[in-house]
Amino acid sequence: MLNIIDILKLLDHQSYRSGQDLADLLNVTRSTIHNCISRIEDLGIKIERTHGLGYRLQQPLDLLSKEIIDQNLSADMKSKIESLVCLQEVDSTNRYASELDLPPAGKFSAVVAEKQSAGKGRRGREWVSPFAANLYLSLVWPLEKPLQTTSVLSPSIAIAIAQMINKIGVKNVGVKWPNDISCDNKKLAGILIECSGELNGQCKMIVGAGLNVYMSRYQSINIDQSWTDIESQVPNASYTRNEIAAMLISEITQVLTLFEENKVNDLIKMWPHWDVMKNHQVNLYTEHEVKVGIARGINNDGSLLLETESGEIETIVMGEVSLRSA
Ligand code: BTN
Repeated sequence: MLNIIDILKLLDHQSYRSGQDLADLLNVTRSTIHNCISRIEDLGIKIERTHGLGYRLQQPLDLLSKEIIDQNLSADMKSKIESLVCLQEVDSTNRYASELDLPPAGKFSAVVAEKQSAGKGRRGREWVSPFAANLYLSLVWPLEKPLQTTSVLSPSIAIAIAQMINKIGVKNVGVKWPNDISCDNKKLAGILIECSGELNGQCKMIVGAGLNVYMSRYQSINIDQSWTDIESQVPNASYTRNEIAAMLISEITQVLTLFEENKVNDLIKMWPHWDVMKNHQVNLYTEHEVKVGIARGINNDGSLLLETESGEIETIVMGEVSLRSA
């Protein structure tokens, strides 16, 4: 079957290409081209068809390429990446990463995908993952430390991603405990950390990150929380998705390396700078209850400090917070 990427590479948004032209270039029949165009449209990519001219993309496409991501990694980073897989479609990059061989200590394997059909969000939610729209990345590595020390990872990675997004040009970036990255209270990126069981006492850790890049190009997207994307925030951003993918891989890998070397504290100290919940009234949702309190930042373990109605500070290890409306 013809790979849709082969056709997409021949199409652009400025000029038309006829079906016959595509068929000749790809050495297939016109009906194969026709079917393939329908498959592309099913992915949410808008294609204009004009009689006598052929096909043209309605908007430019910014496809992922393993080679270009690789070219954008520093030599130091390349030495840390055991393998980099770039998939056209997968159920979930976290699920895929959980089946990869465990890299040796100090190394990481990375998976990116153009589309996830069953992207996983926190607390069993779906992470909506349309084709060629955003970044869906997972990193897998062998945890060398006790599992309970990993609570610091989510906030540390959230800070690193917020810094990176700010560098891209997005203003008003913030973090929300434990691991949301937002802009003006609209979600821009999320992190899902999973441990896929112990192998000889060693945990296979997976850090998944989703970052909205061109989400607003997809009109029919239905998400039950407010969200934004890089393109809406920085319409003239000059970064491609491959460049941002390399930045994301580098940022997360650096945090994981610091974590394994017990050096993540300096990053955690940056939390107050990015914390959008600081000193605000919040609702804390745990598995069994909803608590009301004032968010007072996090401790060195990455736990939330919640001032309860009695004035005591509770240390919260797991849960989710939302701002209380006035
Ligand atoms: C959240 O709910 O905020 C976490 C979202 C994490 C989404 C990413 S996308 C790449 C990786 N693969 C998944 O299935 N989920 C994570």
